[in-house]
Amino acid sequence: MPTPLDRAALEQVFFEARTAHKFTDQPVTDETLHALVDLCKWGPTSLNCQPMRLVFVRGAEAKARLKPSLSPNNADKTMAAPVTAIVAWDTAFFDQLITQFPANPNMRELFAGNATLAQDTAFRNGSLQGAYLMLAARMLGLAAGPMSGFDADKVNAEFFAHGAWKTNFLVNLGYPDPAGYRPRGPRLAFDAMARIV
Ligand SMILES: Cc1cc2nc3c(=O)[nH]c(=O)nc-3n(C[C@H](O)[C@H](O)[C@H](O)COP(=O)(O)O)c2cc1C
Repeated sequence: MPTPLDRAALEQVFFEARTAHKFTDQPVTDETLHALVDLCKWGPTSLNCQPMRLVFVRGAEAKARLKPSLSPNNADKTMAAPVTAIVAWDTAFFDQLITQFPANPNMRELFAGNATLAQDTAFRNGSLQGAYLMLAARMLGLAAGPMSGFDADKVNAEFFAHGAWKTNFLVNLGYPDPAGYRPRGPRLAFDAMARIV
């Protein structure tokens, strides 16, 4: 039976967690990236469809391929970050439904025949999986620096020449240097963002 996590866990993932703009030199190992994927993949998606695809860009050569896509305000910090994840979605995600959602073997055809439904489903669930990725990173002691300031067409051309994967957003990952935190912005009050009916 699930029980509420203790306060320290809530602080690490939400209350005290911050968007990182600067990281320490501590590398993010392959082992940690595997642990990250193995954790975040358990977050729920519709029909268990799992459209998120990831490229972990690490090392100077790979980072140089990313640099021309970045907005000026995101360039230096992304070059300096230990890893930058390209959070993408697979436009052909429905090809996997036969194994990922065996309860209904007809689901592939539903999406293959409806491009709008396929796009909406891939983007909604791929974005949710990107959020799970960032929260999983916090749970593993990493910090995330998400970015939408970049040219997605350029990233797609450079990393996804096959055309099937599309970039949603980027996330710098590493161990945070609090010197890079920006002032905390306020969050909306309950009444401004929620209603109980
Ligand atoms: C999808 C997304 C895109 C973002 N794009 C950028 C960006 O391009 N550049 C940047 O410096 N910060 C970017 N941010 C960071 C947000 O401004 C930051 O997460 C937000 O202000 C909350 O900060 P906090 O976690 O420190 O409270 C982005 C965040 C998200 C979730």
